This record gives sequence, C-alpha cells and structure tokens, in this order.
Amino acid sequence: MPRPRAWFVGSVAAALLTTAHAFYLPGAAPHDYAEGEVVDLYVNALTPMLGGSDNAKLKSLINYDYYDTRLHFCEPEGGPHKEPESLGSILFGDRIFNSPYDIRMLEDNGTCKTLCTIHVPAEDAKFINDRIREDYALNWLVDGLPAAEMKQDTKTGDLFFDMGFNLGNDEDELAETPALNNHYEIVLRYHTPRPGIHRIVGVLVWPTSHATTEDVSTDCPLSDAPPVILSEDQPTLVRYTYRVTWNESDTPWATRWDNYLHIFDPRIHWFSLINSLVIVVFLCVMVAMILYRTVSRDISRYNALDLSEDVQEDWGWKLVHGEVFRPPRNPMILSVLVGNGAQLCAMVGVTLVFALLGFLSPSNRGSLATVMMVCWTLFGGISGYVSGRVYDSLGGTNKRKASFLTATVLPTCVFAIVFLLNLFLLSAGSSGAVPFGTMLLIVVMWFGISAPLSLIGSYIGSRHGGISHPVRVNQIPRQIPQSPRYLQPWAATLLAGILPFGAAFVELYFVLSSLFASRAYYAFGFLALTAGVVSLTTATVSILFTYFILCAEEYRWHWRAFLTGGGSAFWLLGYGIFYWASRLSLDSFSSVVMYMGYLLLLALLDFLVTGTIGFLATYWAVRRLYSAIRVD
Ligand SMILES: *[C@@H]1O[C@H](CO)[C@@H](O)[C@H](O)[C@H]1NC(C)=O
Ligand SMILES: *[C@@H]1O[C@H](CO)[C@@H](O)[C@H](O)[C@H]1NC(C)=O
Repeated sequence: MPRPRAWFVGSVAAALLTTAHAFYLPGAAPHDYAEGEVVDLYVNALTPMLGGSDNAKLKSLINYDYYDTRLHFCEPEGGPHKEPESLGSILFGDRIFNSPYDIRMLEDNGTCKTLCTIHVPAEDAKFINDRIREDYALNWLVDGLPAAEMKQDTKTGDLFFDMGFNLGNDEDELAETPALNNHYEIVLRYHTPRPGIHRIVGVLVWPTSHATTEDVSTDCPLSDAPPVILSEDQPTLVRYTYRVTWNESDTPWATRWDNYLHIFDPRIHWFSLINSLVIVVFLCVMVAMILYRTVSRDISRYNALDLSEDVQEDWGWKLVHGEVFRPPRNPMILSVLVGNGAQLCAMVGVTLVFALLGFLSPSNRGSLATVMMVCWTLFGGISGYVSGRVYDSLGGTNKRKASFLTATVLPTCVFAIVFLLNLFLLSAGSSGAVPFGTMLLIVVMWFGISAPLSLIGSYIGSRHGGISHPVRVNQIPRQIPQSPRYLQPWAATLLAGILPFGAAFVELYFVLSSLFASRAYYAFGFLALTAGVVSLTTATVSILFTYFILCAEEYRWHWRAFLTGGGSAFWLLGYGIFYWASRLSLDSFSSVVMYMGYLLLLALLDFLVTGTIGFLATYWAVRRLYSAIRVD
C-alpha cells in the first residue's frame, strides 16, 4: 500500500517548487532596448492600496482613471490615448494610457526633469485629499512591469517589490491635511545580457512631496522644502518632477517577476494549508471507508436475507427502492442548474490546468480572466448536454423549454448583476465601470456563441437520452416518516458545507485579498490542489448525507444532494462578510455595494459548481447502490 501521507506531502512540495518561482508564457519574448531607445511609461488606473502595517485595512474598492480631470496629472501632448488591452484586463479594471514621461535607455542618468506645473483648483483639492486618506496608489507600467515600492517584510526581513506607490502621504499624525507626492525618484534596473542590448528587470519608484514656487531655478526639488498640502480654499501650485536613475542588475529577464511575487510569511501559509489539506484528506478517506464498509455489509445482509427465508423484513435504504428514482419536483430548474454548474466546473478545471502549465504569466495582464471568459463561452455545449441528459433522466417532458432556459437564465442573471454594479460604479465616478464596447462584446460572446452551442449540446444530450435506472418506481408514493433534525434540508446543507469550506478557507483568504485588495496571486499550484480537495470533499459529503436520508426513509434526495453539495457557498458568504468586517473599512456606500455584489456573484457561482459536483456524484452513487441489491 502506498503511504498516502508521504505521497501527499511530496505532491505539495512539488506544487510549491513550481509555483514559488514565477513562470512565463512560452511565447513572451523580452524587449531588447538599444542605448538611447525610448522607454515608454504607461499609466494605469489608481487603485486603493492595503497599507503597510499588519492590521491595515482596505478603505475603498473603486478605481479612478489616471487622467480623471479631478486629479490634474500632467497629460501628454495631444491628450492621452488608450493602449489596447485584453478583455480580461479590462474586466479586472485596467485602464492603461500613455504618459508624458520622457525616458530613454541609459540616458539622463540622475538628472531631474520637470514634467509640468499646474494649479490644483480648490474644488478638486478635497477629492484628491480624500483619495490620499484612502491610501490610493498610482500604478505605472514600464515594459510590462509594474512600478513598485521596495519594502521589507517585517517578519522575514526580505526585501520585496510592492506593486504601486502612494499618491500622497497621510502618515504624519500632526498634519490635518495629507501631503500630495509630486516628485518621483524612478530607479530602473536593467540587465545587459550582451553588449549593446539592455532589458528592463525592475521598476522602483520613491515618491516624495515638496512644495514649490513659480520661479525655481533648478528642476530638482529643494531638500528643505515643506510638503505640498492642497488647500481646499484656494488654488495650489504643484510642480511635478521626476528623476530617472539607471541601475545595473544581475537579475536576468527570465526571473524579473520573482521580486514582485512575494509571499508574506510563507511558513505559516504553507503549514496551515498543508494541515487543513491533510485533515480533510484523512476525513474524506475515513468517510469513504465507513460508507463503503456499512454499505457492503448492508448489501450482503439484504441479499442473504432474500435467499434464506420468505420473511421479507426490509429496513434502511432498501425500503425506498421503489421511490428513489421518482422524479423530484421542478426537474427543469434542477437540470438547468446542473447544466450550468457543469459548464462552470469545466471552465474552472481548464483554467487551472492552463495556470499550472504556466500560460497565465503575470506580464500578460488579465490573461486569467480572458482564459476564463473564453473557456466559459466555448463550453456552452457542455451545459446543454448535461442539462439535456439530466432532464431526461428526471423524466422531464418539455425539452425545448429546458434547453432554452439552460442557454439563457444564468448568463442573464450574471449579466444583470454586473450591469447593476456597473451603474453604481458609473454613479460613483469610477473608471472601473466596464466600457460599453466590452459589455457588447460579452453579450455577443454569450448569446452569439455560448447560447447556440448550448442548444446544440441540449439536442445531442436528449438524443443520447436519460440514464437508465436499476430499479423501477412504484405506482403509489410511500409515506415519509419524520426525519431527525440534523437531516432537515437547511441543517444538512450547513453541516455538509463545513468540510469543503474548511479545506478551502486558508486559500480563500488569499483569493479574496487578490480579488479585492489587488494583491498579486500566483499560487496556482495550491489553488489547484485546494480545488481538487474541495470537489472530493463535496462529493463525499453529499453522498454521505444522501445515504443518511435514504436510511431515514426520506427518498426525495435529488434537490437535497444539490443543496448539501452547495452548502459551502453559504459559508463562503459568511466568510466574505467576516473578511469585510475584519480586513476592510469601506467608507463609501458604493464600495460596500460593490463588495456585496461581487461576493454574492462569487457565492452564486460557487453554489452552482459545488452543487453540481454534489448532485452528479450522488446520482452516480445512488445508481451504484441500488444496482447492487436484488429486488423481486
Ligand atoms: C547612474 O547613477 C548612479 C548613481 O547616481 C550610479 O550608481 C549608476 O551606476 C549610474 N548608471 C549608469 C548607467 O551610469
Ligand atoms: C542599485 O542597485 C544596488 C543593488 O543592486 C543597490 O545597492 C543600490 O542602492 C542601487 N542604486 C540605486 C540608486 O538605487
């Protein structure tokens, strides 16, 4: 017998090795700069940043365009123009524009330059000051690398690059109003693999604040100048300056992302993760073994009894053999949910495989979301097929309506939620709102590709027909006795959800942090492992609960299997609210609405995925169970 524990730890270690170092899109080629070649600096939307200290809280969830007119940043000649972006990158809030910074490879080392001088009007000063108080960060991109602040991990002492840098400075306890950063010390690290060829391997920015007067003779800020405080009563003069320093580095281009993908306190992270995974795997094995043993004992007893005597004393789950395959109520809704859940499962699975193979490189912005969207669209056929076959198996008759609903209901729901959130973002003046063209593209993808595929899938699915059942259904339904309280649908759902949730919640923390606090997330090895354990646990737990309710002579298991499978979604919702209370301190109403909206969406999708896993696994198990006994 293989030692499961050693094997398990081994595979975790393997996942660790492949994910602790960044991996790169095979096709992504480095950009070779010649000396004096223009190095473009792009500006992305301003995002709220998680402050440096351990108990820092995120204060907002709303992004603003860099060239939002209230921010008064220097614009390039001829006005800013937008850079092309991938679908996923737009959906995740990237809004990339060009900038007036004049940077040339290895030129002007250490010279200060003035970008522009502007007067910030009094009416916009409050807007900027509020953003500084909310710890907003500027996000620049140079050669695909985000500009970062160098920070030191307080626990391990490691230096790492924290993406983004502060718009202003709110640390000074004495000052009533925060200071706006108007001077940027830009350090560009370059690597020279061959003479004459240079590659950018690190972008660091130290922003500082220096008040200025109209007639300064030097471009460099005076070191004894007081910070820039934007007055809310009269216009304030702000001179934006920057200095580029070129610093040679021996980091090769291939590992330039490693500095960015810093994992805070890795040991605690790994230990708790491995612990929870080990516990859950052992639980699963235990549950499976108990189930297997009792069930095979039941079966041999049932079959032995039938042989020996005429006395037919049935008990337990065999009693309901004439009822288990009685179609549930609302088979159409159930099959629509299962079909869409199967589509989502396939999407998640394929995306994780892509991520594990290293196709979702961090320099390919938004690739994760793009791959997810494309997979979801192309897997429309799966939803139709699964829903068609399940509907047939549940004795449904109105196949056309079922396939139509499968193709349309979920996309419409998701789209409606996103659309409403978008309205909120627009009303908050945020740039995070998805542009109209992108919305249109998504509608075209969903209703032009995914829905027809789903209809074709339904057609093929109903041609293949339903699944045959090993025992016949009685004419007259049996009486159902009162089942114990812990088997009542809602109690069972919540109880059953604990295990899969327990397997996932450490990872969930990181996923939520990367979704909402824009922390980079690249531990896909762990995510895939966790997803595997969650689906195993979900399947086992729903089979177990179905076994219990069948033993209690309650035969309406179809919906309950789906609910118990999806139970972890309710815990996810609860955890999301806990995360909100402990890690976020959202001031504005629109931020709260955004958070709740996305959390609901996340829980809904999780409910569909885990519910489907629970239902399909249980269906399989029930068929196996009842084909093992002899019924006269
Ligand atoms: C730029 O200047 C810094 C010091 O100011 C120096 O360390 C660095 O080597 C210089 N880089 C180049 C390419 O001359
Ligand atoms: C250049 O890099 C070295 C380490 O690689 C560092 O010690 C030095 O401070 C850097 N110079 C500047 C100007 O950042």
